[in-house]
Amino acid sequence: MKVAVLGAAGGIGQPLSMILKSSLPAGSKVSLYDVAPFTPGVATDLSHIPTDVEIDGFTGDDLPKALEGANVVVIPAGVARKPGMTRDDLFNINAGIIANLVRNCARVCPKACICIITNPVNSTVPLAAEVLKAEGVYDKHRLFGVSVLDVLRSETFLADELGISRERILVPVVGGHSGTTIIPLLSKVIGSEKISKARVEVLTDRIQNAGTEVVEAKAGAGSATLSMATAGARFVLKVVRGLSGEPGVNEYCYVEGGSKYAPFFAQNVIFGKAGWKKVVDLGKVSDYEQKLLDEVGPQLEANIKKGVEFAQKWLSENK
Ligand code: LMR
Repeated sequence: MKVAVLGAAGGIGQPLSMILKSSLPAGSKVSLYDVAPFTPGVATDLSHIPTDVEIDGFTGDDLPKALEGANVVVIPAGVARKPGMTRDDLFNINAGIIANLVRNCARVCPKACICIITNPVNSTVPLAAEVLKAEGVYDKHRLFGVSVLDVLRSETFLADELGISRERILVPVVGGHSGTTIIPLLSKVIGSEKISKARVEVLTDRIQNAGTEVVEAKAGAGSATLSMATAGARFVLKVVRGLSGEPGVNEYCYVEGGSKYAPFFAQNVIFGKAGWKKVVDLGKVSDYEQKLLDEVGPQLEANIKKGVEFAQKWLSENK
């Protein structure tokens, strides 16, 4: 299994690559690419960790070399927000980066599973789908927005609320990956019935704004990197397990199809040998969660439209 990390020298890319080097099965390869010229140096650094995972690093014009033979591509490349910005404010810079990287993936490793971390995920994933369609290689089962950091945060905050171990809890989070499109389904967790409605609203609000909590705490030095790297690695390792034929591996992520609420939607998918193969039904939710779900459509649709329109313009200007 070969995993390519695009944006590998950045704040997310470096720890993500480190976790992959330490956690992928023996015999795997990790290929690092970043515009930062020291990226081969990051690979040299990681290569001293004694695991049977091969590491290589590329920069400049060598993106195709980094992508050659990749089964999975994970993309944290792009700029992070500063206090006062929304994820959407990053769109103008990050959209062009994603369009270019994804076109390279389409041409060099058209069957790879592409996992996008770059914000705003609600828009960059539909944008990527358009670029892949234009290259004639789009398969919705192989394109993912990484939204699992919302799950990690929900697990931490809800476990603390319930006074239970943070390692023994699983909280579904559906919708999208920004503001009110992040919909944690706290009612699915046994014990949550003891929490008052008012506290559920406070917790939901904290989960929806947890990215901003980090941006403000870092005071201008960027957004979540270490927790995002942990989330990205958890996701990639599951995709790899699915591709390797392990049955029943699942995770929450933003994909096209499978939901009545919006054309792209974060939901629980089961992985298989060719990407995600099945969406798991949301099942019963609380009245409060149902209200959030009923309201999410227009916001997600506007985010999706923005990505699609950018892609159409970019494709016409970059033949
Ligand atoms: C996060 O959720 O922390 C990331 O999407 C980064 C951000 O800008 O919030």
